[in-house]
Amino acid sequence: MNNPLVPAGFEELAVILIQLVYLLAVGMFILGLKRLSSPATAVSGNRMASLAMFVAVIVTLFDREILSFEYIIAGVIVGSLIGAVLAKKVEMTSMPELVAVFNGFGGGASALVATAEYIRVPQTGMDFAGIPVNVLITMSISVFIGSITFTGSLIAFGKLKGILSGNPFVFPGQKILNALLVVLVVVATVMLILDPSNWIIYASIGGISLLIGILIVLPIGGADMPVVIALLNSMSGVAASAAGFVIDNNILIVAGALVGASGLILTMIMCKAMNRTLTHVIFGAFGSEAVGLLGPETAGGKSIREVSPDDLAMMTAYAKRVIIVPGYGLAVAQAQHVVREVADQLEKRNVDVKYGIHPVAGRMPGHMNVLLAEANVPYPQLADMDEINPDFPKTDVVLVIGANDVVNPDARTNPASPIYGMPILNADEARAVVVFKRSLNPGFAGIDNQLFYNENSYMFFGDAKKSLSSLLEALKEID
Ligand code: TAP
Repeated sequence: MNNPLVPAGFEELAVILIQLVYLLAVGMFILGLKRLSSPATAVSGNRMASLAMFVAVIVTLFDREILSFEYIIAGVIVGSLIGAVLAKKVEMTSMPELVAVFNGFGGGASALVATAEYIRVPQTGMDFAGIPVNVLITMSISVFIGSITFTGSLIAFGKLKGILSGNPFVFPGQKILNALLVVLVVVATVMLILDPSNWIIYASIGGISLLIGILIVLPIGGADMPVVIALLNSMSGVAASAAGFVIDNNILIVAGALVGASGLILTMIMCKAMNRTLTHVIFGAFGSEAVGLLGPETAGGKSIREVSPDDLAMMTAYAKRVIIVPGYGLAVAQAQHVVREVADQLEKRNVDVKYGIHPVAGRMPGHMNVLLAEANVPYPQLADMDEINPDFPKTDVVLVIGANDVVNPDARTNPASPIYGMPILNADEARAVVVFKRSLNPGFAGIDNQLFYNENSYMFFGDAKKSLSSLLEALKEID
């Protein structure tokens, strides 16, 4: 260690201290992650992990032979400004797009870290032949995974933002082409090991990987997008971990591995919630195999019933048990506060009110929890899908607010449906179901919902916030 910040004679002590602080940061990351698993402790968990990252960055600045603090400070200021503006401006409903971009930049940064180390070799007076094989392999892995994450995330961003069509893009021989490209990367890595100074080989690993990222995410569409975002998040962690091996930095290795592992666990949870396997998500092209779908325009012949605010106020005020099922439309309408007021009114009348939370309701993991926490809905009122499903048959009224796919009974009953097998909230089993939405338009998966036409269902058309406000007024008028 040749560090101008460390006084002569204290080098070894500094190395030990730095590793100890890294260890402390790792402990804080793990505790932070643990605390993120409950809404009650999530905020403090997030703070703890941020603090750990801050400490890790500061210590790393001491650890390295920093050439120019000016560039680092300028980077921190510009990056913090962009981050702060984005975080302030972004709508809650656009969070997945933001996460997609963050994942992409994370992957891209790891690929660049490995590349910078490769470029640095001749400048340090080292011979390319002196780079150990394991470092060359981790460089290749970092560039491979980081580049796929970069372009894959940009495509995911484009699809979520509507810049690119959300439909799966498929062509004959796609999977064979992808497999061939992966084989090419392996061949190029072997060639790099044999001829490490050949930068054209190095660059081609990056170029092919960038192409793979585009080709892998393009065919994925519809409801599989959230799973892909979680998977790309996990991949950005693996790329960072590989970059950590390249530059021999313990905290990067461990933090990357934590992101990789937790991202993979989240991916598997989401796959389970949607009854999809990971191979189906990556190779199945969601929606391309859909058969016999009924769009709203072909829903003719089926009739719906509407309910007025006054009638609904009577139904709910005299109910024993009401379950509220929030979905993406609740977030769009920003109706979380008024839904809580409706629940408060009902509770005053001794109605038992619970919220049924589907794991992929909304547009990001935990979306509904975050939204309802913002309106101070007490955590004990929130019930997960497995916990609340047995209660639906004993429930008088279910208020489905801006949710659609997560209560679509076709997932249980129609083998031809693309969402067949996805676990849903069994709202249709209640005595009465009232669906708050603006039209009969489909939700994220783009498919019709039989729930709207069931005999025990009523539609309450309009923006969820306005509809709930009129229900609230009607409830207040009941003496
Ligand atoms: P969706 O199935 O997307 O349905 C949302 C419904 O909200 C729409 O049918 C829409 O109908 C209605 N809506 C929109 N704006 C509204 C407003 N202002 N007032 C009232 N209603 C409004 O939502 P969901 O049931 O929450 O299911 C989530 C879907 O998103 C799943 O397919 C899931 O796979 C996917 N997804 C989830 C995530 C995560 S991780 N949660 C991420 C990305 C995608 P109208 O247009 O008729 O109003």
